[in-house]
Amino acid sequence: MIRSLLETSAALLAGAPGFFPARASSVAGEVDRVFGFIFWISLFFLVLIVALTILFVVRYRRRPGREEPELTASHDTRLELLWTGIPLVLVAVMFVWSTRTWLEMTRAAGSDEKPLRVQVTGRRWSWWFDHPGGKGSEELHVVAQRPVELVLSATDVIHSLYVPEFRLKQDAVPGRFTRMTFTPTLAGTYPILCAEYCGTDHSRMLASVVVHPDQRSFDAWAREGLAPDGSLVALGKQVFAKKGCLGCHSLDGSRRVGPSVKGLWGREEKLVDGALVRVDDEYLRESLLKPGAKVVAGFGNLMPPVALDERELQALAAYLQSLGEAP
Ligand code: CUA
Repeated sequence: MIRSLLETSAALLAGAPGFFPARASSVAGEVDRVFGFIFWISLFFLVLIVALTILFVVRYRRRPGREEPELTASHDTRLELLWTGIPLVLVAVMFVWSTRTWLEMTRAAGSDEKPLRVQVTGRRWSWWFDHPGGKGSEELHVVAQRPVELVLSATDVIHSLYVPEFRLKQDAVPGRFTRMTFTPTLAGTYPILCAEYCGTDHSRMLASVVVHPDQRSFDAWAREGLAPDGSLVALGKQVFAKKGCLGCHSLDGSRRVGPSVKGLWGREEKLVDGALVRVDDEYLRESLLKPGAKVVAGFGNLMPPVALDERELQALAAYLQSLGEAP
């Protein structure tokens, strides 16, 4: 313990070349700085408190002729303000700094470019990544400097996608979609780990992320070996037909019993109670499993719940998105 603490300190002191993994996302540097700040403050107080404890134990120990405790001052306002004020300022700095860094993580930082949207499935015990254009893979592929939006779900238990080089981690939770946005900055191949204990082979639930140097290299990979009908979009189209969605939801914008799905993705819908909702993965999930929860204004509460597994839900999301997005 002490040895690894010392090694950590020494490495941080030396500017940590090669000690931490490479910084391969736009937030990695800031995460390291917050970590370093908290680490050094903690180390400083650890040393100070332990040293004072030892000093006082030795100095005020019981010995012959000093059996009774000495009288001590009961109160010193200046001292109390000092040891309340300093920690208060320090934890306030930690709070503000780390919250700002966290907010930065929730945006695809550094660009207004449309993010690369990848649908991620965690299952015991592997990851699956569905990329735009239909390529599915056990590896995540992204492009350097292009923002990425991962939409995660899990088919069985909670998993957590963790890329140490990005300093980022997000849970994949059964029954809902979670999101992770980031901008990779450094081309290369980095490990993906599962960071939530999920059973026997949790520690072997490994994958990698390939950061392509440019879009061309990504496109070449995405086309390679692409089965025309193996894509998530194709599966979504099948599900849409098989579950009878077309009976009530047109593809061409015409009005039927339910809203048309043309240009549905990203659209702001007005609900019967007047609230606005943006059509995204989470809204889609809720509307399929609990159709009465958010009914669009002008339509009746007529839709029955649709039984779908996680993959079919993702496929429908990909298919609806492929039909065109709202501006
Ligand atoms: Cu999946 Cu741990």
